[in-house]
Amino acid sequence: MAFAGLADRIIDRKVRGRAVAHLRQAGVRLPTFAELADPAASAVRVPAAVDPDAPAAANLFRVHWYNDAARRGRDAVPGYVELPSELTGIKARIVVALGERFPMIAAHKVLPAYACLVTRLITGGFDPTRHRAIWPSTGNYCRGGVAISRILGCRGVAVLPEGMSTERFAWLGRWVADAADIVRTPGTESNVKEIYDKCDELSRDETNVILNQFCEFANYLSHYVCTGRALERVFEDLGAPGSRRRLAAFVATTGSAGTLGAGDYLKSRHGTKIVAVEPVECPTLLANGYGAHNIQGIGDKHVPLIHNVMNTDLVVGVSDTSTDSLNALFNTEEGRRYLVERKQIDASIVAQMSRIGLSGLANVLAAIKTARHLELSEDDVMVTVATDSAALYASERDKTIAARFAGAFDRVAAAEVFGQHLAGIGSDHVLELGHHERRRIFNLGYFTWVEQQGVPLPDFDRRKDQGFWQGLQALVPAWDALIAEFNAESGVNSVGS
Ligand SMILES: Cc1ncc(COP(=O)(O)O)c(C=O)c1O
Repeated sequence: MAFAGLADRIIDRKVRGRAVAHLRQAGVRLPTFAELADPAASAVRVPAAVDPDAPAAANLFRVHWYNDAARRGRDAVPGYVELPSELTGIKARIVVALGERFPMIAAHKVLPAYACLVTRLITGGFDPTRHRAIWPSTGNYCRGGVAISRILGCRGVAVLPEGMSTERFAWLGRWVADAADIVRTPGTESNVKEIYDKCDELSRDETNVILNQFCEFANYLSHYVCTGRALERVFEDLGAPGSRRRLAAFVATTGSAGTLGAGDYLKSRHGTKIVAVEPVECPTLLANGYGAHNIQGIGDKHVPLIHNVMNTDLVVGVSDTSTDSLNALFNTEEGRRYLVERKQIDASIVAQMSRIGLSGLANVLAAIKTARHLELSEDDVMVTVATDSAALYASERDKTIAARFAGAFDRVAAAEVFGQHLAGIGSDHVLELGHHERRRIFNLGYFTWVEQQGVPLPDFDRRKDQGFWQGLQALVPAWDALIAEFNAESGVNSVGS
């Protein structure tokens, strides 16, 4: 099979030997996927003194959903916020798991970044003494990649559009060894083709290893195993088993479509419907469309190779006007005061809304639309994620306030935003997928992957069959065995401080 990154055994013993020696020297122990999926079952304890935002080897063992609010200790259940009906206007329960608790980048994309590199390291596909890890992204995956590269003591290069948020570039500036390791490509959010072109150019140098999240199945699998189980744990936390509660839908924006992998896990165990979310300004799945938008991290004008399209149940479009406006509502004093005083929403919930970044807001809005479309009831639970928090979008909030609200977000602005973008949300841009629509979206991927990127047609087509995706799951225990073997050889037993 031509897919990269799927080796389940050592392909180059010399390279792997160098990786073992390098990590021994650096004192890095690698967590298994099982440890990241269920950190309570791991013998490893990260000392609370380790700064969650430092490039410390111990932070690899915090690349999971169970970090506590301080991000130094661990909780039994992933951090989440449940949104009340006064806010959502629907009876079904919406629960948002918090990606901001992940270490170093305060976003869950550090999980797939680790998955994509570790699977290369343990099989001899990446030599940390001479390879550079290239991380194509729209902002968070490349930050995760740069953080993981730095811990492993190798060069990491971020490739991202020049139009991404100031906060992302400021973070990268602090973490890269050399300013040349931040490569800016033309455009903004949905200019992924330009990122691919740059990667193509970089790949001509054989010391560059491209870890393309859009076609790395380790990305899909890390979410299947870790995010899927974490969201199930959140669902279990909501009430006693045996109640009429149903895990009705999993809602996730699609960038690389890695997060959607959690939906395959939840569907296989709970019959959960999988809802893929995209910007209406770039309606690729809804209408084979294109366009620019500001829901950073999603909507990339193509169908990722790792998107299990034939298992996706609905596509929902959300406007960036809504997410930008809600970012202002939830992250200004006037907006918060309006929600508490006028809408009588619990102040503690209102305070939590700043834990949800732009794509998380898109998830919430898409969940509301889905509930309206499917007429979900109070017995229905919808789970989703906030990949990152509003902390990464303060500059975007200020731009919105300047451009749309004449520079001041007052009570009238708050009421307008609430009325138009929450209370007034209907079920527009919702598409339930039958076989024909699934095929249309699946076929759209042909132009990127077969025509542009040279994936052999039989491999491309193989992904239509659910057996292909189920077969991938066998890789995870094989990788875990290789990680255990790697750690045993490197002899690094503690995670240090
Ligand atoms: C903020 C944000 N939201 C959503 C996504 C989409 O997640 P995925 O790539 O798993 O589809 C990304 C991806 O980078 C992101 O950075």
